[in-house]
Amino acid sequence: MLRQCPIAIDPSGRNVHAEAARLRELGPIVKVVLPGGVPGWAVAGHEALRELLADPRRVSKDAYRHWRAWIDGEVTHAWPLSIWVSVQNMITAYGEEHTRLRKPAMAGFGARRVAALRPRVEAVAAERLDALAELPADEVVDLRAHYAHEVPTRVMFELFGIPERSWAMLHKIINGFFDTGISVEEARQNSVDLYETMADLVAYKRAHPADDLTSAMLAARDDENGARLTEKELTDNLILLFTAGYETSVNLISSAVDLMLRHPAQRELVESGLAAWEDVVEETLRLEPPAANGFLRFAVEDIEIDGTVIPAGDPFIVSFASVGRDPALHGADADAFDITRPSRGDHMAFGFGIHYCLGATLARLEAAVSLTALFRRFPEISAAGCPGRLPRTESFISNGLRELPVRLGPQRVTG
Ligand code: HEM
Repeated sequence: MLRQCPIAIDPSGRNVHAEAARLRELGPIVKVVLPGGVPGWAVAGHEALRELLADPRRVSKDAYRHWRAWIDGEVTHAWPLSIWVSVQNMITAYGEEHTRLRKPAMAGFGARRVAALRPRVEAVAAERLDALAELPADEVVDLRAHYAHEVPTRVMFELFGIPERSWAMLHKIINGFFDTGISVEEARQNSVDLYETMADLVAYKRAHPADDLTSAMLAARDDENGARLTEKELTDNLILLFTAGYETSVNLISSAVDLMLRHPAQRELVESGLAAWEDVVEETLRLEPPAANGFLRFAVEDIEIDGTVIPAGDPFIVSFASVGRDPALHGADADAFDITRPSRGDHMAFGFGIHYCLGATLARLEAAVSLTALFRRFPEISAAGCPGRLPRTESFISNGLRELPVRLGPQRVTG
């Protein structure tokens, strides 16, 4: 009965977890209205999610080929969320096209390359903490802006081999992305600047190849057996990698710090060696996945699950947040933060199936290193805002804090 009434997805994401729980209660597949009045479906049941995400033939992310309303012009570029479906890179690609676009980027994300980054990530974190240590110990610091944001950004610069002369420009562009009060004109200029900076990077790396992700992608692209990307596809892929990799990582680090500051008993477990920072990272990903919903997929043919049919050509969102808090997977205390929970790794914070996050290993490394370094250096760090009531990102896709006020306290004196 209830399933016949579409649920309006809240564009502000004010309470993504309550929304996910409601969808889950209504069934594995629920009829919804997406922001902007676009009809569609939401998949929140974990079994249905696993089934659909493991089925790259019947499930597409390519609106140009498989979204009836997009092809017919009922939904156009005027839809405020159109950017999520109109970009054409691996994240929206289907079938062989997806393999072709993903392959050259994989060259840069091998386990060895990522593991080799650890000393650099540690050095970047230490450098940021040195800067914070200059501040008075009782000053209130926004740790999101001054640490959680800074570490992944600098790591991305190094991973991509971005020459130092472009760092200031990229910082400006990234800050623009973060600034929700930015004007349309400024946002457009930001995007022009981003394309120019990336084109400049490609030209520079062609002339000066080095041991970095951009050079690896260029080599894979220019290789006769490679994926033969056009110049635009290469730049778009680089931009995707660059943008997919920071806001999510910033959300993860800030949420983990916030949760640890609010749960001293959990902090004690790590400090006494009974749990590891890697456990904190996993439990944070489960409880507060930085990408709450995956946007947007399309049924290539009629898809029936548990008596509900998503008709061919219809769009649907997938609720990654739902999996992390599903009591069927995590028990009655699924909403509690418990870093020793055996099921902490059973989440879909990095997606599932062929679009599984390319940067998952790097993101885990960055978060674990950032947390270890922060709590080791400032053992008395404490929350300076209202615990559990900090302003959150206004989005049903991105899930994180907008600010994280803390008092760092004195730094640990090492002998
Ligand atoms: C905590 C940090 C991160 C989280 C939570 C995260 C989450 C995700 C999720 C959920 C997806 C799948 C989207 C879908 O299926 O609809 C995804 C895909 C992707 N992520 Fe991440 N991500 C993170 C960090 C990164 C980093 C550091 C990079 C790269 C430097 C990256 C690059 C990508 C790319 C390229 C894809 C698309 C893969 C494809 O379509 O084949 N991500 N990510």
